[in-house]
Amino acid sequence: MHEEQSEQATGRAEAEGLVSFIGESPSMFHTVAAARTRLEQAGYTYLPEGMPWQVEPGSRCYTVRNNSSLVAWRVGSEVDPAAYHFQLTAAHSDSPTFKLKAQPEIEGPDGYLRLDVEAYGGMMDYTWFDRPLSLAGRVMVRDGSGVASRLVTLDRDVAVIPSVAIHMNREVNKGFAPNRSTDLCPLVSTGECTRGFVDALLAEELGVEPAQIVARDLYLVNRVAPRIWGANGEFISAPHLDDLMCVYAALRAFAQSANERTVSVFACFDSEEVGSATMQGAESTFLRDTLARVNGALGATEDDFYRALSSSMLVSCDNAHAVHPNHPELSDAQNAPHLNGGLVIKEAANQHYCTDGFSRAVLQAVLDDAEVPYQLFANRSDMAGGSTLGNISNTHVSVHAVDVGCAQLAMHASYETAGAHDVQLAIDALRAFYDADIVIDGADAARW
Ligand code: CO
Repeated sequence: MHEEQSEQATGRAEAEGLVSFIGESPSMFHTVAAARTRLEQAGYTYLPEGMPWQVEPGSRCYTVRNNSSLVAWRVGSEVDPAAYHFQLTAAHSDSPTFKLKAQPEIEGPDGYLRLDVEAYGGMMDYTWFDRPLSLAGRVMVRDGSGVASRLVTLDRDVAVIPSVAIHMNREVNKGFAPNRSTDLCPLVSTGECTRGFVDALLAEELGVEPAQIVARDLYLVNRVAPRIWGANGEFISAPHLDDLMCVYAALRAFAQSANERTVSVFACFDSEEVGSATMQGAESTFLRDTLARVNGALGATEDDFYRALSSSMLVSCDNAHAVHPNHPELSDAQNAPHLNGGLVIKEAANQHYCTDGFSRAVLQAVLDDAEVPYQLFANRSDMAGGSTLGNISNTHVSVHAVDVGCAQLAMHASYETAGAHDVQLAIDALRAFYDADIVIDGADAARW
């Protein structure tokens, strides 16, 4: 095969695009900033929630809440306000990590300076030991008579969480349960730096005085760089593949798609890893408020809005578990996705995934028509499985919905692995969804 054809077939360019996107997104605030940059380049206009909105057929706009959640929409040029619907994708901007406490430093023992952090979400603790770490997030800076938010990444290695040597813990290979209060304190100095170290670093980075720093939402970042690897470039490994792989794929699909008769929507929610119940999470009013305002700005009535919702569909995007090479028995034998096998449709009888027969049929038929591959996932019947944002969003914006994701290994490790070809395949699938003008008639029928 020609090298050019081969690269096209495997979607190397989009895998590299994901590497760049993850590099720009060390925190949920940065994820939203990276998405905004790409939307602005594609001609999307920022409409702040605190301003009046002008929206009309052909409009491309986005809004943000808390600078950590984002909703973008494109109104098709042929949209009729009295007879339209939404086609939405949603993914999450946050990933499990450790958050710095308000008083961030621990002095001692023996002259050391460490950081005081607590868990954000359900990470695998052992994957945070013995690797270069930094801090990223936002800092609130005193600004005249108020405070202003500043995005910050310390682009250098500032901390390591050191293991205890095996000679001092001979049983470690028989099982290790780190204590989050004592074992997981990142080390930042042997004694040359003292209390105030964090604000001094931040002040230097932001060009302000340390005393101007009032508060911080700062998270630990694994500094091991994202990379595409394997003899044939089959793998991608990076921090935050859950769920930046889906954020990137959905955003790319949204930006590339064309559908003049629907309102296409891309949503990226913060707070999924801590239950979504924040002012900007999937449990908030953010998506519903945004869609209702778009409806109103189009000159549509409240009744039009409810009619639109009844004919709308959401694809909730959050990564899925691939068959593990060392533990295939952990997957359901019949419903187990593989790396590089395409987008995964996830279903659970307990409806922690919002997929049902109707929504699965619609998406599968759309993907079949577009000749895009897909796979199916279900948990082993004796395993609880995870949850995601689709069923939570659906309690506020109730639409037919299907849960999907990209297959990956080591979910919630500080460094995760997925299939490099799956980036392009996920974009192809989500683009097929956006491109199809899917009109839903209750749960009786859908056509496109
Ligand atoms: Co996730």
